[in-house]
Amino acid sequence: MKEEKILVTSALPYVNNIPHLGTLICVLSADVYTRYLRLRKKNVVSVLGTDEHGTTAEVKALEEGITPKQLVDKYFKIHTEIYNWFGCDYDCYGRTSSKQNHEISQDIFLKLYKNGYIKEDELEQVYCKKCEKFLADRFVGGTCPHCKYEHARGDQCENCGKLLDAVELLNPKCSVCGLKPEIRKSKHLFIDLPKLEPELRKWIKKTEHNWSENAKTMAYGWLKEGIRPRCITRDLKWGVPVPLKGYEHKVFYSWFDAPIGYISITAEAKKDWRDWWHSKDVRLVQFMGKDNIPFHTIMFPAFLIGAKDNYTLLDSISVNEFLNYETGQFSKSRHQGVFGNDAKEIGIPADVWRYYLMINRPEKNDTQFLWDDFQEKLNNELVANIGNFVNRTITFTNRFFDGVAPKLLKKDLDLKNRYNDVAKLFDGIELKKGLKEIMNFSRTANQYFQENEPWKLIKEDKKKAENVIANLLLLTKDLSILIEPYLPETSREIQRQLNVKNLSWSDLGTGLSAGHKINKEKLLFTKLEDEEVKAFKEKFSGKKKPKESPFSKLNLKVAKVLDVKQHPNAEKLLVMQIDIGEKRQLVAGLKPYYSFDELKGKKIIVVSNLQPAKLRGEDSQGMLLAAQEGEKVGVLFVEKAKPGERVLIDGSKPGEKEITFNEFLEIKLEAKNGKAFFEGKVLKAGSEEVRVDKDLSGDIR
Ligand code: 2FM
Ligand code: ZN
Repeated sequence: MKEEKILVTSALPYVNNIPHLGTLICVLSADVYTRYLRLRKKNVVSVLGTDEHGTTAEVKALEEGITPKQLVDKYFKIHTEIYNWFGCDYDCYGRTSSKQNHEISQDIFLKLYKNGYIKEDELEQVYCKKCEKFLADRFVGGTCPHCKYEHARGDQCENCGKLLDAVELLNPKCSVCGLKPEIRKSKHLFIDLPKLEPELRKWIKKTEHNWSENAKTMAYGWLKEGIRPRCITRDLKWGVPVPLKGYEHKVFYSWFDAPIGYISITAEAKKDWRDWWHSKDVRLVQFMGKDNIPFHTIMFPAFLIGAKDNYTLLDSISVNEFLNYETGQFSKSRHQGVFGNDAKEIGIPADVWRYYLMINRPEKNDTQFLWDDFQEKLNNELVANIGNFVNRTITFTNRFFDGVAPKLLKKDLDLKNRYNDVAKLFDGIELKKGLKEIMNFSRTANQYFQENEPWKLIKEDKKKAENVIANLLLLTKDLSILIEPYLPETSREIQRQLNVKNLSWSDLGTGLSAGHKINKEKLLFTKLEDEEVKAFKEKFSGKKKPKESPFSKLNLKVAKVLDVKQHPNAEKLLVMQIDIGEKRQLVAGLKPYYSFDELKGKKIIVVSNLQPAKLRGEDSQGMLLAAQEGEKVGVLFVEKAKPGERVLIDGSKPGEKEITFNEFLEIKLEAKNGKAFFEGKVLKAGSEEVRVDKDLSGDIR
């Protein structure tokens, strides 16, 4: 029989944020399973990496005022450090923005195209005339047509959770420039799922017995709803370019190239990657969160089946539900919950987190991270069970036997079935149950110590005491092997104290040889005290930092208009020289609303800390504020205040940092009857209230 090859993948996390404990569940699960297979000396390759394309990365980059490439580089580094710190040991680790992934994604696309599985169709889409682009998913915001929430995104409403099509939004706004977009038609490419359906169904039927219940239900749910062609192209710059004439300005939908990332990440790391990804003899085991199921059971297999290139297809799927934090959700912006970088910094070892996340692995329902539970599991399970057992065995051997292992005359416990039970759970990817079984093993070992009372035996029956110690050392060694997939650092430390190395599954059940010298004892775990728990609860509660008013990001100043000229390359734009305490140049779209003379000498209000921009070739160092009411536009102005004077609301301080245009758009200023307001507070330069020209009411930009 040919040796089985196993390919294990973890879903590739999005790289536009810092991963929290919930994100780590999937990454750790695949790591635990792979480590088990390695212990069994299986031929295994594991794959992890980061999912770097998609509108979220592009929008986040705009928010942070950097390019998408800079953004993903920054977060790739953070993700990598976190996974390493948590002890993840993947054979292949990479990124979906790599050259390799561009090539393989384009290759798979061209095969699908050649095989007749790609269709062209026209879509109605929102288009921003000012930015001259189609606004994909998150590049447009507006009011949700279902629940009327005002900050819905183009792809989804966060309030009611409904998936949206951007053209349905009420009052849509371009999230880059704030203008109302229009609807235009544009050509896109679709994967012809209906044409692939017969083959897909055949394959699912053959494979589904290896899938978790939730995976089956969801995949059949999709099929039942009626499978439709799915759009796989997007109007973005950041992504894998579509290699087809007429589509030069589009990229692939990130769910097209992300799963192909598994293949290209393997290709980057291994010369023989084709033996893994084009083979009938490889068992592909994929770990993911529940929201990823349709992409791995329908979409990705459809790409690979349609490419007709003997690609390796999913065999087993392990799905985790979600982890919540205390009574809410993880939220970086609210400082709520423990994120990967926090775990790294607060001094609790990685293995303790690994233990907690695996013993609470959300398998059938969502579960919660609770500090009280975390403390209890650390103190009563890791410290009192494993830690205590290993420590008393090693201490006892050192104290009464000079650290020399006595001869094992007779094994007192029949352990074979215990190993097999653990193995069965691992083989069925029952990772939570597997860990519980190993904790039972450790409990049995503790009981054996307790019942045999070696501290008495040593005085009464030395021979018997020797055999008990030899048994205890065997149990300690076995425990270090069984626990390795979950707690690799702890396993290494136990083996260091036992003075043994690199044990594998086949070493289970053999004692240390008589005369083997062990090392000094050292505690494996430290208890978490109540005061520490209290401090951590407080620190990660999200209550600590009251949210700063967004207005305080702005640095508004009075500016006197010194000169106005027509923009050489744009009919509607003006180029203005201003005095804002220093001389600056502004570009503004005021041509349709003001004559040069109306503006010259006027004291207007300028956002002075906006990132400088070039508008049609002219530098613009700031932006003037104006209100719009219907077709009318009126600038904000003052009469008495001096150039350079700050414009504030009561109780606010001026912003220190440069802000991006997108950040500015988050700050909603309003004009009412000729005055300017933020959240009901009037804008002032010193004691002078700012006025709105033409006494307009409406949004200020
Ligand atoms: O849900 C997520 O975090 C996705 N980035 C998972 C992608 S899995 C694979 F397809 F890359
Ligand atoms: Zn726009």
